[in-house]
Amino acid sequence: MLDESALPMPMPKLAPTLRSVFLCLTALAAVLGAAQAEDTTTASADLVARGRSLATAADCAACHTAPHGGMPFAGGYAIDTPLGQIFSTNITPSKTGGIGDYSEEEFAHAVRDGVAKDGSHLYPAMPYTAYAKITDADMKALYAYFMNEVKPNDHKPQQTELPFPFSVRASMAAWNLLFLDKTRFQPNPAKPAEWNRGAYLAEALTHCATCHTPRNGLMAEDGSQPLAGGAVGPWFAPNITSDKIAGIGGWSDDELTQYLKTGNVAGKAQAAGPMAEAIEQSLQHLPDDDIKAIVRYLRDVPPIASAGKQARDTFGEPSTEIEVALRGLPTHAPNENGFHVFSGSCASCHQPEGQGNQHYPSLFNNTATGGDRPDNLIATILYGLHRNVGENVAFMPAFGPDASYTDRLSDKDIADVSNYVLANYGNPVIKVSATDVAVIREGGEKPLIVRLAPLAAPAATAGAVVVVALIAWLLLRRRRPHPARA
Ligand code: HEC
Ligand code: HEC
Ligand code: HEC
Repeated sequence: MLDESALPMPMPKLAPTLRSVFLCLTALAAVLGAAQAEDTTTASADLVARGRSLATAADCAACHTAPHGGMPFAGGYAIDTPLGQIFSTNITPSKTGGIGDYSEEEFAHAVRDGVAKDGSHLYPAMPYTAYAKITDADMKALYAYFMNEVKPNDHKPQQTELPFPFSVRASMAAWNLLFLDKTRFQPNPAKPAEWNRGAYLAEALTHCATCHTPRNGLMAEDGSQPLAGGAVGPWFAPNITSDKIAGIGGWSDDELTQYLKTGNVAGKAQAAGPMAEAIEQSLQHLPDDDIKAIVRYLRDVPPIASAGKQARDTFGEPSTEIEVALRGLPTHAPNENGFHVFSGSCASCHQPEGQGNQHYPSLFNNTATGGDRPDNLIATILYGLHRNVGENVAFMPAFGPDASYTDRLSDKDIADVSNYVLANYGNPVIKVSATDVAVIREGGEKPLIVRLAPLAAPAATAGAVVVVALIAWLLLRRRRPHPARA
């Protein structure tokens, strides 16, 4: 029912039919007016709230807010990539520093296609290949959130300057042609709603594949091995397919849920590095139903096996009393230095037999020591671990470049202590050399495209010389009298 007193103008005296027509028209005008107001001026509170939760799930803040008290979304976070440092931009609605003059369409073009308002191509350090799956309705909500709730900030973050040939942003157009799939997320009608919610969250928003899917030599995700494990700089995002040995097929639903919400499952795994960031900034804030949906989806990811024969969380489990007794006498004889570094730098927290206590995790039954790669063990020693979840802070000091001078360990010390931990508590087949540690210290193994980069400048120069020679030769040929015409 229409309440006449709520109408914007006094009711003129009219015949009953005319009056109802007038009422209808006024109501229509009010509705249209409201709809227009939502489009142009302020978006509805619901839309903005939805945009806020989408931005949390998509973890926009992880990269667009600089660490240690950076202004929200004002950019400047340096992302270490194998190509060099890439700085995130200011995505607050400031017209001078940020994206204040982006239209909704331009915003969507940047987030899903990787092309900024000025037409320049973004580097895929901005995970647009995953965001390409975000639906139009959700892009609308994200835009409404950034334009209406995020505080404008005029900060101008440092510009990205990659070395040649990566400085040529236009080359990303060719990369996109090869590797950017612009298909929006399509629900699978054969699957239940919860699975589809999980698939959308995992594939589009929380972008698990950005880290957990291996990349090819051109740094694009290898679509034939979804979630089979990939390097993230010095860290390694393990296989999280449903394979019982190589993946997380052997984890219970509760364990997966606890890991995604807190980053710690005693006797199994702790989240460090980029996974700690994803949990701290995004996953811990997701509603329980969303985590449940992601777990449901993970259960269904086709298993991809590896050469390993034993699940990475099952190493070192003392199964018999004799074994427990033996653990009291770790085999340090061939690795004296490893034993000394362990006793001096690790045992105070992880305990002399590596068994941990209620505050510190055990080093056996630990995915960082039982995997078929030592990356996360080495990276944790080098960079430490820091993860805020709710009121809890998980903290392990760094022993690499950021450590105080007295705590700093050399590549050889880190290799020795890693070998000590692996031999006694983890996967004893894995051996670490000082060179392996140096590679992780330098940010991890470089992909093919980066290893070839030093050749790019000479190749381009050589190419230019060939082209100049070719043109000169053609010109000379023209000038010379043609034999047939002579
Ligand atoms: C993993 C890091 C990362 C995440 C997560 C991320 N971004 Fe970005 N984003 C970047 C980087 C880095 C750039 C700049 C890339 C470049 O310079 O080529 C960028 C650029 C942009 C741009 C272009 C801005 C301009 O100045 O023209 C927009 C818009 C943007 N991001 C929005 C978002 C939104 C919205 C989200 C969340 C849905 C998001 N980003 C999540 C790293 C990230
Ligand atoms: C920014 C990169 C990144 C993103 C995004 C990411 N992960 Fe991870 N993930 C990692 C890394 C690195 C590790 C290893 C952490 C460690 O052991 O300290 C990891 C570890 C894990 C583990 C534990 C595996 C083990 O054996 O210890 C699970 C489970 C997991 N991630 C699930 C997910 C899911 C599900 C998503 C998406 C919702 C996701 N991750 C998104 C980088 C990432
Ligand atoms: C001051 C206490 C402390 C010291 C010293 C310490 N750690 Fe830790 N370590 C921790 C804490 C805390 C965690 C993470 C617990 C959590 O995530 O809840 C951790 C986690 C780990 C992990 C799991 C990382 C992952 O990515 O899954 C490994 C492996 C590890 N530590 C090895 C070592 C080694 C080797 C040393 C000695 C070089 C060492 N730690 C020294 C406190 C310590």
